[in-house]
Amino acid sequence: MQFQFSIPSQVTFGSGCSKNIGQVLAEMSLSKVLFVYDQGVKQAGIVDKILSYLKDSNIQAIEFSNVVPNPPDTILQEGAELAKSENVEALVAVGGGSSIDAAKAINILVTNPGPINQYDGINTVKYPTKPLIAIPTTSGTGSEVTNVTVITDTTRQKKMVIAGRYCGADVALVDPELTIGLPPAITASTGLDALTHAIESYVSNFASVPSEINSLKAIELIYNNIEEAYKNGSNIGARTNMLLGSMLAGYAFNSALLGVVHAIAHPLSVYCGLPHGVANAATLPYCMEFNARAEKVQSRNKDIARAMGINVEGLSDAEASVKAVEEVKALSKRLQIPSLSELGVKREQFEILAEATLREEVSIMANPTKVTKEDILNILEIAYSGVESIVNKY
Ligand SMILES: NC(=O)c1ccc[n+]([C@@H]2O[C@H](COP(=O)([O-])OP(=O)(O)OC[C@H]3O[C@@H](n4cnc5c(N)ncnc54)[C@H](O)[C@@H]3O)[C@@H](O)[C@H]2O)c1
Ligand SMILES: [Zn+2]
Repeated sequence: MQFQFSIPSQVTFGSGCSKNIGQVLAEMSLSKVLFVYDQGVKQAGIVDKILSYLKDSNIQAIEFSNVVPNPPDTILQEGAELAKSENVEALVAVGGGSSIDAAKAINILVTNPGPINQYDGINTVKYPTKPLIAIPTTSGTGSEVTNVTVITDTTRQKKMVIAGRYCGADVALVDPELTIGLPPAITASTGLDALTHAIESYVSNFASVPSEINSLKAIELIYNNIEEAYKNGSNIGARTNMLLGSMLAGYAFNSALLGVVHAIAHPLSVYCGLPHGVANAATLPYCMEFNARAEKVQSRNKDIARAMGINVEGLSDAEASVKAVEEVKALSKRLQIPSLSELGVKREQFEILAEATLREEVSIMANPTKVTKEDILNILEIAYSGVESIVNKY
C-alpha cells in the first residue's frame, strides 16, 4: 500500500468560533493584516462582524474587497502591492472559495515574483508565504483546509489549479453561524460542489484509506442535511453538518484529487460564466452515470449508496450503483438545479468545452475511467436537457 495524505490547516470548528480571530492573531504575535473578501459577503453583514472582532483585539485590517467569483488573475497584483506597501504581517480571508483562493494567490505574490500564471501546477511556489487565516462562509469548496488555489487565467482561458507547498491556509476558523444567511440557490449549488468533491475523491484513482473515510463521512453529512439547509437556512444543526461535510470532503480531495465532473465544470465557468458550484451540480449525476459503466466504480457506488442511507442489502454492485446515481439525480431535481440549456449554455459551445475538458489533465488522470472527447460531448448533451428543473434561480 502506498499513498500520500496531508491536512494543511490547523482547524477550529464550532458555532461562534470566528469571534476568536483577534485572539488567534494575537497568539501568533500578528497585529496588521490584509483582509480579503467580496461584495456578497459584505452585503451579508459578515465583513463588518469580523472587522469588529479585529478592532476589539487592536488588529489593524487593510481591506481588499475586489474579489469576484471564479477569481481572475487580473485582480491579484493589486492586492499583493497593497499588502507589500502596507507591510502587513498576515492575511485573513472571509468568504467562499473565491475569497479564500484570491487571498491564497495574493499571499503567494507577496513573497514570490508575479505573474501568478507561472505557478499553475503542483509544488511550483518557491518561497514561503505569510500566515493566512481562512474563515469560510459557504459549505462548498473546503478551500479552508486544502493546499489548493483555483485562479482563472484570463489569457489562456483556463482555471489554473495551483497546489501543494505554500498554497494552504495556516489556520481555519470554521464557524457554521456564518453560513446561516447563505441564500437557498447558493446553498444548493455550493453544497452539491461539496458532494461532488466527496464522490469524485471516493472513486478517484488516488483514493486511499484516510481519504476514503473522509469522503464517505462527507457524503453522509451532506446528503442528509443539504435539503434541510436549502429549505430552512436558519437550522444551525443542518448548517453545522453541511460545513463539517464540506470540510471533510476538502480533506479527501486534497490528496485523492477529483475527476471528470470538475474537468467539465472548469471550462463551463471559463467559457459560459457559470459559478463553480452550479457547473458541478448541473453535470454530477450524468458523470456518475458515465463512470458507473466500469465494474470497479459500481462497487464504489454501492458504498456511496450505503453512505447516503439507501438500503442495498441483497443488491449486486451494478444494481446498487444505479440506485446511487438515481438518488443523486433525484436530489438535484429536488434542489431545482437547472439544466445547461436553462443556464444559457449553447450547443455551439460543446466542441470548445469538450476540448478544454481534455486539457484538465489532473482531474482526467484521477478519474476512474478513461474519458474521450465523444464521451464529454455525450455528457454535455444529457446535462443540456437535464433533470426536470423549473426555473433558473442563479
Ligand atoms: N481551493 C480549493 O480547494 C477549491 C476547491 C473547489 C473550488 N474552488 C474554487 O472556489 C470558487 C467557488 O467558491 P464558492 O463556491 O464558495 O463560491 P464564492 O466564493 O464564489 O461565493 C458565491 C457567492 O456567495 C456569496 N456568499 C458567500 N458566502 C455567503 C454568505 N454566508 N451569505 C451570503 N452570501 C454569501 C458570495 O459573495 C458570492 O456571491 C471557485 O473559483 C472554485 O473553482 C476552490
Ligand atoms: Zn469543486
